Amino acid sequence: MAVELRAPFSWKTVGGDTAAMLDELQPNILKGHARDHLTLLFLRFDDSGAARAFVRGLVVAASGRPLMKSAKTHLEEIARFKATGAPGTAYVGLGLTAAGYDAIGVPAGQRPRDRAFRRGMQHAPLGDPPPSTWEPHLRAGMHAVVVIADATRPSRDRALARVRALARASKAVAIIGEESGQGMRNANGECVEHFGYVDGRSQPLFLKEDLSDEIGRADGASVWDPGLGAGRAIVPDRGAPVPRLQFGSYLVFRKLEQNVRLFMRERAALARRLNLTGADRARAGAMVIGRFEDGTPLVLQRTAGMRSPVPNDFTYDSDPDGTKCPFFSHIRKVNPRGSGSFSEARERRHLMVRRAQTYGVRTDDVHDGKVSSKPAKGVGLLFMAFNASIAEQFEFVQQAWVNNPWFPVVGPSDAPPGPDLLAGQGARPRITCPLTWGTSQDHPTATRAVPPPAQVVAMKGGEYFFMPSLAFLRSV
Ligand code: HEM
Repeated sequence: MAVELRAPFSWKTVGGDTAAMLDELQPNILKGHARDHLTLLFLRFDDSGAARAFVRGLVVAASGRPLMKSAKTHLEEIARFKATGAPGTAYVGLGLTAAGYDAIGVPAGQRPRDRAFRRGMQHAPLGDPPPSTWEPHLRAGMHAVVVIADATRPSRDRALARVRALARASKAVAIIGEESGQGMRNANGECVEHFGYVDGRSQPLFLKEDLSDEIGRADGASVWDPGLGAGRAIVPDRGAPVPRLQFGSYLVFRKLEQNVRLFMRERAALARRLNLTGADRARAGAMVIGRFEDGTPLVLQRTAGMRSPVPNDFTYDSDPDGTKCPFFSHIRKVNPRGSGSFSEARERRHLMVRRAQTYGVRTDDVHDGKVSSKPAKGVGLLFMAFNASIAEQFEFVQQAWVNNPWFPVVGPSDAPPGPDLLAGQGARPRITCPLTWGTSQDHPTATRAVPPPAQVVAMKGGEYFFMPSLAFLRSV
């Protein structure tokens, strides 16, 4: 049977081609890898032979365990950890840019097909700041990225030292840049981003084991189905010896700096403009994100407090006019869950797998509410997303939804719903906000058009990579 790409499968019981695919797929694509401590090394190849030797060295070790492991090994490590508490090994992933494929001399017919990948992020029509303003190492024409991560710093550092030694030994693989991130958690142990909001909760799930955890241990999947076929994340690896069994995935990387001080000022200004008082003030930030800080979806209730688990089984069906969660809210823009003015099935084609990590060291208390101590630069998100098609997933979402103030089309109105205030690039028209939460017979909702909060996220550079199959890496 061909590799199962259309519906979630059970990795424990699946056999045949799908099991073979997992043996050669890189980890962290179909299931997230523990990544509290993460480093990205950006590489330039100065000699194709040396580059090929370096790449092979990641998957074939002269002695001991190779640095890179398969998705299957990662899944087995997780199962062992659950059963016995035995820690797994570090995650080492490799992605190549289109220029990287040139540099190692892969014939044209064996390279990844995606047109956006070939064009690269610097030429993408995303409304980004000009590449001349990006951080130099993120626009320097990189050939590859090595992603190294693990749950503890010493384990990440050991793997990092091995990768550096391999690059040094090759003599023609230069490390031209480096980014490191460290997971941030709130008091409940949930991952948060620098503005203080729970992040990483909503993800497509490709494995039946993850779906049954979602149903059994989280809030279920009765109205929002997070299940997706692997074909939304992986594609045959045309460079591999047996492409129908050996798959890879397109990785989008963007360094997004967060001005936390400005975000807090703008959030307070929005609350003032809407006359929000008391506990209702938290609704200003929730309108920008679509969830309260503790992850409570704004569409479900007017205040925070729906924790343990943070809900993800929701849609916007109860809010067709955006008076609970406005259409410009980040999570409603990037995943309208059926409220995006075309069919839910078509919407789902644009879902992507997010594997982001926060970067930058915080010396303040993230949740103390003191604006003046908050960082204005130097912290943010190492945004990473896996795609089967960059054009249909990441680029579509960023261009047609996030940046586009007219998405979604919500009936005859002069006022556009507005751009995504978090991740949107480009012009920002005024936004129309509900003064009270939701509509009811007794309290008809009033809205107010106000100036939009200033841009608090700055794009500092990025690139598109293809994470090939292990079989390809062994064969170069
Ligand atoms: C610094 C920039 C960003 C921050 C601080 C941020 C923050 C967040 C937060 C707090 C959530 C809610 C947690 C969750 O539902 O999992 C979220 C969800 C999400 N974000 Fe972002 N994000 C950023 C950039 C982006 C970008 C550039 C994209 C894609 C173009 C994106 C796509 C998504 C998606 C797809 C979801 C899940 C929405 C859902 O399924 O309901 N984010 N983000």
